[in-house]
Amino acid sequence: MSAEHSENKIYPVPERLLSGPTKPFIDSFEQYQSLWQESVDNPSTFFAKAAREYLHWDTNFQTTCAGDFENGNVAWFLEGELNAAYNCVDRHAFATPDKVAIIHEGDDPNNVRKLTYKQLLQEVCRMANVLHGLDVRKGDNVAIYMPMIPETVIAMLACARLGAVHSVVFAGFSAESLYERIQDCGARVVITSDEGRRGGKTVATKRIVDEALQLPNLVDRVIVVKHTGTTSVSMTPSRDIWWHQEMANARPYHPVTVVSSEDPLFLLYTSGSTGTPKGVLHTTGGFLLGAAMTVKNIFDVHDDDIYACMADLGWITGHTYILYGPLCLGATTLLFESTPTYPTASRFWETVDKHKITQFYTAPTAIRALRRLGDEYVDRCNLSTLRVIGSVGEPINPEAWEWYYKKVGHSQCAVVDTYWQTETGSIVVSPLPGATPTKPGSATFPFFGIRPAILDPATGQELEGNDVTGVLAIKQPWPSMSRTIYNNHHRFMETYLKPYPGFYFTGDGATRDKDGYIWIRGRVDDVINVSGHRLSTSEIESALILDSSVAEAAVIGGHDDLTGQCIHAFCTLKPNMVSDTEKLIEGLIQQVRKSIGPFAKPKQVYVVSDLPKTRSGKILRRVLRKIVNNEADQLGDTSTMADPGIIQQLVDKVKQRH
Ligand code: WTA
Repeated sequence: MSAEHSENKIYPVPERLLSGPTKPFIDSFEQYQSLWQESVDNPSTFFAKAAREYLHWDTNFQTTCAGDFENGNVAWFLEGELNAAYNCVDRHAFATPDKVAIIHEGDDPNNVRKLTYKQLLQEVCRMANVLHGLDVRKGDNVAIYMPMIPETVIAMLACARLGAVHSVVFAGFSAESLYERIQDCGARVVITSDEGRRGGKTVATKRIVDEALQLPNLVDRVIVVKHTGTTSVSMTPSRDIWWHQEMANARPYHPVTVVSSEDPLFLLYTSGSTGTPKGVLHTTGGFLLGAAMTVKNIFDVHDDDIYACMADLGWITGHTYILYGPLCLGATTLLFESTPTYPTASRFWETVDKHKITQFYTAPTAIRALRRLGDEYVDRCNLSTLRVIGSVGEPINPEAWEWYYKKVGHSQCAVVDTYWQTETGSIVVSPLPGATPTKPGSATFPFFGIRPAILDPATGQELEGNDVTGVLAIKQPWPSMSRTIYNNHHRFMETYLKPYPGFYFTGDGATRDKDGYIWIRGRVDDVINVSGHRLSTSEIESALILDSSVAEAAVIGGHDDLTGQCIHAFCTLKPNMVSDTEKLIEGLIQQVRKSIGPFAKPKQVYVVSDLPKTRSGKILRRVLRKIVNNEADQLGDTSTMADPGIIQQLVDKVKQRH
């Protein structure tokens, strides 16, 4: 389907949503528009009211919003004090103690565990006591490297209860990446499990933690959850302790540590344009409000709903949309340990059917993969409980959108294509299910408090009106935006607030079409998005040049029908070091897996005699991108290149390996 065609295709809000027994909270486009207008014109009034409605405050705030982008000192609900765990657990444990808070759908579909709010409170308190006993206090960082099990949620909330700051590292990261993150945040305690299980395969989490902690005295304690019960896990005396043993002896109540609205809630490392990953810091009040408000309005979550976000807790989507958003609302949230295709490609849909899921949230990669495997896997399940189905992480192509809408949603569910980032904390552009007519492939309109701007990338001038394309920025602060990069505020300013003064810069390109709909076009910086996982080109390049035979490396994102983008790496070699190129290429792929993690594996590595460069020696990644994406005929002016003759050689090399 061409972009123009899809731009002209508008789907109204499905009739069933408006006429069904559960009325959407916002049920007309006019209502959305007037609320949005109010939220951006009078953010202080709008968000003060929302913060009191959504959150329990131990100390009231008086100043709703202070600071600005110029100074990088944005702060919300300033005098306010609260506790995130109290908001996500205690108050619901008192009001609805027997309501299920977490449904854990294990890797084996026969393993289902449910925790009520009352049980969750006791577990969180026990863990808070264990951590307190290990001297974890307000402001301390705790690293978490865990599979998708209830203990991960319990560990995160136990940190929040103490006012400690969790730093969850996705369990697909390598030991080296884990080490780097533990060292950067200075955590003294790590929480992990003996092993993880995903799609029937074992992930040796504890072994990877041991490898990451080879430096003596890097941390004081490692708490280990017995998950698979493997016998091969090794425990280091005086450092490693078993979760179940500590918990058995812990009191199931621990008072909350009330913190300032602006105290940090968590760090989450993400990839940027330059090499080292950055610890994106989120604070308590603003983040929680953004999480809860978006879950309620964008997923239209009501009291009896069963809400499911299929992401991993190791990424921001898991933080905001598995844990903090739904639990802050007192909803039932699903925790999915497995993969979309295990044991069969019906797994997602069987899970929806089994638990009577009402909201379902996943990534375009999964939708594309399942669409390719055939309709029969969907058709055999009853998906009639679904009302809202969401997509996140990368642009969703119109074909995948249509399949999701028709096959999964039976043309009766709202599809919400939600655009946001680790740094934005919660969704910033998305339809609202009962209000927004959608266009397949467009994230549509801004959420409350978000004033988007499309800027001319060269001049920084705002492009007003419709039918404009440029880079996407946000014009005024919103509650859940990241406040800083841990220990590196300079980098925060340089990355987000300095490139276009007065704006928050997203790093994405975007179009506002003739009807005012926003279309996200993908990253304009050196970030690659593979299956919704963010990777920086320079991080991968650094991994490649660790090999002693590699002289230079250039990494770019190529187009991939399934994963959105994929990694192509070009390497030049030092003279006379390699006889077997194929073996070297295999070794380089392994090197990247080892340095970063299996999900960062390059799809193609090309060994070439030279890289395209300017006369001053700067690598022209733009040229490589065009060659890989079959656009070598659109290179434009190559006269500034040091050696334009290199192009044909590169084109041949790429063709050869396809
Ligand atoms: C991309 C994930 C198009 C975008 C929540 C962004 C999207 C990056 C969408 C952030 C979407 C996310 N449409 N692109 N609906 N959602 N992206 O930090 O490039 O892992 O900048 O956060 O994913 O990735 P992150």
